[in-house]
Amino acid sequence: MRSLPVQQSSTPNSEKSATWSQRFEGALHPAIVLFNASISFDIELIEYDLTGSQAHAKMLAKQGIISAVEGDQLVAGLEQIRQEYRSNQFHPTVDDEDVHFAVEKRLTAIVGDVGKKLHTARSRNDQVGTDTRLYLRDQIQQIRQAIKAFQSALLTHAEQHIETLIPGYTHLQRAQPISLAHHLLAYIEMTERDWQRLGDVSKRVNICPLGAGALAGTTFNIDRHFTASELGFESVYANSLDAVSDRDFVVEFMAAASLVMAHLSRLSEEVIFWATQEFGFISLTDACATGSSIMPQKKNPDVPELVRGKTGRVFGHLQAMLTVLKGLPLAYNKDFQEDKEGLFDTVKTVKACLEAMTILFDEGIAFKPQRLADAVAEDFSNATDVADYLAAKGVPFREAYGLVGKVVRTSLAANKLLKDLTLSEWQALHPAFESDIYAAIAPRQVVAARNSFGGTGFDQVRSALSVAKSRL
Ligand code: ARG
Repeated sequence: MRSLPVQQSSTPNSEKSATWSQRFEGALHPAIVLFNASISFDIELIEYDLTGSQAHAKMLAKQGIISAVEGDQLVAGLEQIRQEYRSNQFHPTVDDEDVHFAVEKRLTAIVGDVGKKLHTARSRNDQVGTDTRLYLRDQIQQIRQAIKAFQSALLTHAEQHIETLIPGYTHLQRAQPISLAHHLLAYIEMTERDWQRLGDVSKRVNICPLGAGALAGTTFNIDRHFTASELGFESVYANSLDAVSDRDFVVEFMAAASLVMAHLSRLSEEVIFWATQEFGFISLTDACATGSSIMPQKKNPDVPELVRGKTGRVFGHLQAMLTVLKGLPLAYNKDFQEDKEGLFDTVKTVKACLEAMTILFDEGIAFKPQRLADAVAEDFSNATDVADYLAAKGVPFREAYGLVGKVVRTSLAANKLLKDLTLSEWQALHPAFESDIYAAIAPRQVVAARNSFGGTGFDQVRSALSVAKSRL
């Protein structure tokens, strides 16, 4: 959805009829008009506002609160505004204050005085809550689809790299070699939780506040369940005060979005150092890398850096929203207007980052198998396997661990790797060593042997891959 530039007022201040009521004699200070208005950003909600108002109009007609003809006129007028908006012919001004007033004013211009009946048995307080929920329900669905697309980009690499080995790290120190697919599958698992979490949040987004009125309900014989089901809500708020002052779902969404960003940011960090000359595990294709303005040799990982950087603003919006909520008495307070920019920015940022990371994995990076193979062959990340070898032959693990620590130390001093030790050197360390020690510590075997459920053994990785694939 696009945001429209909101036109400046052309009406002289004195002529502005406050949309509110005749209670006001004077005009609002022009700076306060701007300060108060949300139309420059809540135009984002317009399609949801129109849909919500159409359901409300139908309900008013069904309940005999307005006539059937009037109901049809309202619904058709609202549809016309939708067409005007889509064809870029709807141009609200700051005097309209917000999207709700802008729509009502345009509706009355289109359908005449009957337009003024739309707001019967409703308040902007239940209206804005309805719009925000409809918007967020839609956006969550789009974000969940974007997560699936990202997972499928990861999965394509994973399928190609089941038997490609990569150093596994703890404390960013080489720990044990693993399957590259296993590493990528970890991110598929993380984002699968994100997908589930957003689905869970969606359940609490999908509750209808419409009909709560300003705060206390309404004197009209409305049918809240009708509007809720017209709009596809699963249920209605049970308490009118809670209905208009609940923004928990915004916080929940922002928290879930923050975790999406945290996961993307962690992967970004790995991609960034994998692309360094020091690691050299991947090369960046021209599709996603940028150059330097001064150093001609450079190819920079801007995409993951931006994702990592944008994580901050999403975390910030969550903090801001919690802070907006914490001191608010019941029921509606204008502070709630502050929920929108952070929410819209969170949605846009998460969608943009998921899309960019999907493109990055689809066509922006190439793993360098030879460099990865060399990396796992040239370190001591098979040391645990020597200890496991002895332990499997009955040597208590802690004792085996001590012996291997000693041999690592002496090998390091002699500038040797474990695979370089002779059988007599092994046997001098412990008589249980036999010639099969060499096969046991070869990187491929080291990985293949970790076949416990959820481990990096190739059989485990294959079955994890097929589970991940069937979820997509
Ligand atoms: N623009 C307002 C918002 O975003 C709409 C609700 C206004 N309600 C009111 N009582 N002033 O919160």
